[in-house]
Amino acid sequence: MKLEDVRAIVTGAASGIGRCIAIELARAGGSVVGGDIDLEGLKELETEGFGLSGKIFGIKLDVANESTVKNFVEEAFTKLGYVNALVNNAGILRDGLLINRDEEGWSRKLPTSQWKKVMDVNLSGPFFMAREFAAVVIERNISPSLIVNISSITRAGNPGQSNYSASKAGLDALTRTWALELAPWGFRVAGIAPGLTETPILGYVSPEVQAEIIAKIPLGRMAKPYEIWQAMRFIVECDYLTASTIEVDGGAMF
Ligand SMILES: NC(=O)c1ccc[n+]([C@@H]2O[C@H](COP(=O)([O-])OP(=O)(O)OC[C@H]3O[C@@H](n4cnc5c(N)ncnc54)[C@H](O)[C@@H]3O)[C@@H](O)[C@H]2O)c1
Repeated sequence: MKLEDVRAIVTGAASGIGRCIAIELARAGGSVVGGDIDLEGLKELETEGFGLSGKIFGIKLDVANESTVKNFVEEAFTKLGYVNALVNNAGILRDGLLINRDEEGWSRKLPTSQWKKVMDVNLSGPFFMAREFAAVVIERNISPSLIVNISSITRAGNPGQSNYSASKAGLDALTRTWALELAPWGFRVAGIAPGLTETPILGYVSPEVQAEIIAKIPLGRMAKPYEIWQAMRFIVECDYLTASTIEVDGGAMF
């Protein structure tokens, strides 16, 4: 697919990686509907998009709210005329150990609400989005089309990230499942698993933990959002790529 032919929904487009993907797609001539719970961030995204070759529209979206996703997808098709790409990027961190014991012997179990919040946004959200997107694409005979899921290298499992790691491993399973199920209708489905990347989500990771992670990265630094975009660009342009998740992690091993 050519970049200028992309008409994409990008979730979590108000910040970080999603914002970079939206801007770079529009710079390359594609058009984007960015969805996010952060309305201020969406306004800034639209402003940043003025003057680029393609258009960017921001529409409020909570990917975890099943009842509103269908309307959002329909609105995106109306705004862009048609949509041929979905980037499931919105994601959150709410880290915590399964059992956390302090020196006095008090222990705290990972709360169910903390488990569910991350699974709702990071795993159920992409499911709701892809289901509605695929249904309309198939109904309208739009082909080729593309779904890109933003996973994480911590999908392999990482202490303190029961919820996050499981959600991202699940998302990888969906990448492969949808690639196989939807190929007959002209879909490609791929994933990107970034390592530590310089975005506002790192506000949830202490500077000490960030430094520990960076010390284990062979390239000695975090990724920049633009470097995740470079993988996205490759996925868009390589028409033979499907069912794979590309790791962009500076060589980090988990
Ligand atoms: N930054 C990293 O180190 C890193 C590493 C690996 C994977 N990732 C993944 O990359 C993706 C983007 O993260 P980022 O680093 O750009 O973080 P970010 O916090 O900068 O951006 C995430 C965006 O998602 C939005 N969002 C959160 N909940 C939402 C919901 N329910 N509905 C719609 N939008 C919602 C936020 O408002 C925000 O704009 C996430 O899926 C994240 O898990 C990030």
